[in-house]
Amino acid sequence: MYIKRNIRLSLIVIVALIIPCGITAQSKSDAIYLNKNASIEQRVEDLLSRMTLEEKAGQLNQLNYGMFTGPDNKADGEQEKLDLVKQGKVGSLLNTLGVSKIKKVQQIAVEQSRLKIPLLFGFDVIHGYKTLFPIPLAEACSWDMDQVNKNSRIAAKEAAASGLNWIFAPMCDVSNDPRWGRVMEGAGEDPYYGSVIGAARVKGFQGNLDSVFDVLACVKHFAAYGAVEAGREYNNVDVSRVAFYNKYLPPYDAAVRAGAATVMTSFNVFDGVPASGSTFLLTDILKNRLDFKGFVVSDWNAFAEMIAHGYAMDKKDAVYKAIKAGSMMDMESRTAINYLPELVKEGKLSLDQVDKAVGAILYYKFKLGLFENPYRFLDTKRETENIFTTENRKIAKEAAEKSILLLKNSQQILPLKNPNQKVALIGYYANSKSDMVDMWKATADAQDCVTIYEGLKKQFSNLTFSEGYNKDNSTTEALINEAVKNAAAAELVIVNIGITSNLSGEDKSLADINIPEGQIQLLKALKKTGKPIVTLVSSGRPMILTEVEGLSDALVQCWVLGTETGNAIAEVILGKYNPSAKTVMSFPYALGQIPVYYNHFNTGRPAPEPNAKDKPADFYSRFHDIPNEPLYPFGYGLSYTAFEYSNISLSSKTLDTNNSLSVTVELNNTGKYDGEEVVQLYIQDVTASIVRPVKELKGFKKIMLKAGEKTIVSFKISSNDLAFFDHEGKSIIENGKFNVFVGGNSRDVLSSSFELVQ
Ligand code: BGC
Repeated sequence: MYIKRNIRLSLIVIVALIIPCGITAQSKSDAIYLNKNASIEQRVEDLLSRMTLEEKAGQLNQLNYGMFTGPDNKADGEQEKLDLVKQGKVGSLLNTLGVSKIKKVQQIAVEQSRLKIPLLFGFDVIHGYKTLFPIPLAEACSWDMDQVNKNSRIAAKEAAASGLNWIFAPMCDVSNDPRWGRVMEGAGEDPYYGSVIGAARVKGFQGNLDSVFDVLACVKHFAAYGAVEAGREYNNVDVSRVAFYNKYLPPYDAAVRAGAATVMTSFNVFDGVPASGSTFLLTDILKNRLDFKGFVVSDWNAFAEMIAHGYAMDKKDAVYKAIKAGSMMDMESRTAINYLPELVKEGKLSLDQVDKAVGAILYYKFKLGLFENPYRFLDTKRETENIFTTENRKIAKEAAEKSILLLKNSQQILPLKNPNQKVALIGYYANSKSDMVDMWKATADAQDCVTIYEGLKKQFSNLTFSEGYNKDNSTTEALINEAVKNAAAAELVIVNIGITSNLSGEDKSLADINIPEGQIQLLKALKKTGKPIVTLVSSGRPMILTEVEGLSDALVQCWVLGTETGNAIAEVILGKYNPSAKTVMSFPYALGQIPVYYNHFNTGRPAPEPNAKDKPADFYSRFHDIPNEPLYPFGYGLSYTAFEYSNISLSSKTLDTNNSLSVTVELNNTGKYDGEEVVQLYIQDVTASIVRPVKELKGFKKIMLKAGEKTIVSFKISSNDLAFFDHEGKSIIENGKFNVFVGGNSRDVLSSSFELVQ
């Protein structure tokens, strides 16, 4: 009797333990999607078969939750969004930050929604999460892929430690227009270099997508967003197919092939169709040509914006056109949750189309292990231990040093050898933390950034500081007088000019990128003191430095360098780090020259070389008031030491398809310092069935040479390197003459030539 009762009790306990799991013993064994031994494809299929149309639409819905908060620190309509999560009507949230906050929402998704599908949490981690690295444009000037990898790993690590599993980077938009505030997010004007960087960043962010520090990357903005007219944000794009295939597409292509899990559509139209509704971009190119297997997310509200574009009648029409074209997740415009189910019921969209989109998103939720453990990224201990660490800051400092671009150094005025010399530091920005962070500062605190003043103060015992100009870049007689007084009392002047970092990033287009007049007035007054002037330019884009160059003995482009700004700049000024950066965007000579870039076409009437015989007197392609050439060309940047190139030689004068050809040059460090040089290889396809640029970067090597040391640098060229795309995007390789150039920038090169004979 006693035994019987006990058996009965045990049975009740077992049943009671099973039932609260929410899945009966019967359905549990059926639930392939919960079986981690099944393939992801099988799990996705099984889960799809259990979902209602509304739940599928929910997976395509991404909402902003947790940013742009009000005074009570609550997201707009917080409760309403949590209710949607509970109803299974949200697939992902963006801008939800911190383990505890993310956990709270994830818990609702996996404990209270019917199918318990975990959410993805995304955020813009553009140049670091809390430890800020140099902006991507500056980082790219390092030409150092190990460094780029380290920076991306740390950005991902900090983001993942804080609970995120998806970051909206890298931006792979090639751009020739420094008026566009977003050039700070990219890798500059070259498609080949942009490809190398895009792939390196994707690999850095994602790793193998198997550790708790690996996050999904998002390649953006697909496509050709860098070509916005006049550099005005959200503006139109009109590029030829030839430009698209040869110039704009390669970096996205490389980043996708590096394994990027997600791609974001751009805001612009492409061939008259908004990118989120473009079958050409999303299906023909991204899916079919690039073989992209991940999922596509729209840019913010981009589905709905197809209405303003004049492409969709209303939101229902917008989501119809978007999904049909190959878009998947809808960021913030709620068109999917509101209209997708009825579009399927009306037979306008097929279930298959919807399942493909939902399946691609679910795939990555499985891949990240979120079904096994939805709290996998949510560990407060990890959050405390991995963010803004001393080690992360050390790498950020190295990255900043490698991004600093030396543009001029008359009479080798830099580096300063004597830390006891009297130095006058001048410039409002040099001592303003709030001007050091841009809109993509992520969670960084401006107070944590080391200013130029703080950095120099640690190293120079005799440093004075004066503002010289106001926060709004204007100046006054009093400010100038004080600055001049300090300059006169010093042995050397360091002036920090430029624009606030707040003017870099999204919605930061500027029509005028000249150095503000107040700063020029200041520089002119300082110049009159006769003291040597070292000018440090802070800006998230190349500014027009033509006048500044004449007023400075040394000129240093400091970009927006992140947390370690001041420390890195001080190291460079003292020569503890010898600058090695080379610009990845041309610095225009004047505003009216934009767009100016190295890989342009020749035109039918190119400007004659200065020493050419039989120069045409008139009617060639030029400006009458300024040169055609930029102030500083692509690839340009100085070192404290000097590098000499000599003896370019080719292993053969002809190349065929079975062999490669090697190009060698001698590189000699003729200066007094050990230093690194970025040796660049360019080619020119002299005559082709589609006109090719005057130069195209095809390779680079960053070489360290001790003072007085020399080496032979060699590159291989094979016929594949000579391929280009025709109007239909077909890759072609054509026989004929090719020029080869090697040098330390795109202008000052040694050249040779060979013939391709297939
Ligand atoms: C930007 C994207 C960004 C997204 C999410 C958009 O406005 O264009 O680059 O990832 O917002 O914040």
